[in-house]
Amino acid sequence: MKDFKDKVIVVTGAGSGIGAAIAKEAVLHGMKVVLNDIDNKSVQKTLEEIKDMGGEGVTHTADISLIENVQELYDLTMDTYGRVDILVNNAGVAVSGPIWEIPIQDINWITEVNFLSRAYGMRVFIPKMIEQGTEAAVINVASTAGIMISPNGPMYHSTKAADVALAETTYLGLKARGINNVQVHVLCPAFIQTNIHESDRYRPERYASLDDPYYQSQEFKAGYIRSKRSVLAGMPIDSVGMTVFTALEENRFYIFTHPESIYPAGHRIKDMVNGNNPSSIKLL
Ligand SMILES: NC(=O)c1ccc[n+]([C@@H]2O[C@H](COP(=O)([O-])OP(=O)(O)OC[C@H]3O[C@@H](n4cnc5c(N)ncnc54)[C@H](O)[C@@H]3O)[C@@H](O)[C@H]2O)c1
Repeated sequence: MKDFKDKVIVVTGAGSGIGAAIAKEAVLHGMKVVLNDIDNKSVQKTLEEIKDMGGEGVTHTADISLIENVQELYDLTMDTYGRVDILVNNAGVAVSGPIWEIPIQDINWITEVNFLSRAYGMRVFIPKMIEQGTEAAVINVASTAGIMISPNGPMYHSTKAADVALAETTYLGLKARGINNVQVHVLCPAFIQTNIHESDRYRPERYASLDDPYYQSQEFKAGYIRSKRSVLAGMPIDSVGMTVFTALEENRFYIFTHPESIYPAGHRIKDMVNGNNPSSIKLL
């Protein structure tokens, strides 16, 4: 995709971090923005910043892991601009801890936000992109965690691996059916300085009760500290928007913020090819 001027981008989880950065880069490329986030204050702040840059857009405050809210985001986009050119399925949360200890609500929450929201977004927006017949793109924000393994965060790895597979198979599925105007991309960041370690703040009401004793456990506390340390030591956010738009222009499917992300992915594949059992490699 090369022509962005006056086109429309929809970004979920645009109140913070990577979503806000992609939305701002889109404005620098002349796009109009439709910004979703579960947190009203932060998404309004992103829109204010975009207006200060001379851009225009609208906001949608809702939990994007619910299909009715994805439909509402689509309706808002159509009512406001009548078209959609790029969908960025970005909203995400982090849950750590072993699968045999974490509360069931965490399994549901992370699956709904990190994975189901992407499937719903593609299901709802891609038909319009096909109907338009003009150049369009979907970017699923996965993670380097989606192409590598480690002993921590099994639900985070799993939901991100699902995001990668959903993007890859949809890419192939569109091509196999001769639909060439809709491109699919997957963004696999390694650690970037955002608020992802503070995900507990964005729990929807149905998963907000922290009464389960797990939330007082050493395992839970260690997971938070590990995540905070890694994220705060990550790459500054500044270049992420540009990395994404360069990949769109070059029509590159796999988008990495850290080129070295392919090494842990390669390590995993080597284990498979060589008939070894899974072995971990240090996180980036
Ligand atoms: N920061 C990293 O190191 C990193 C690395 C790899 C992948 N990612 C992925 O990048 C994406 C963006 O994360 P980030 O790092 O910018 O984190 P962030 O916490 O700064 O931003 C995430 C945004 O998503 C919103 N959100 C959370 N749940 C939501 C819901 N149900 N509906 C709508 N919005 C919701 C939050 O309010 C927040 O504004 C996530 O999918 C994350 O998994 C981040």
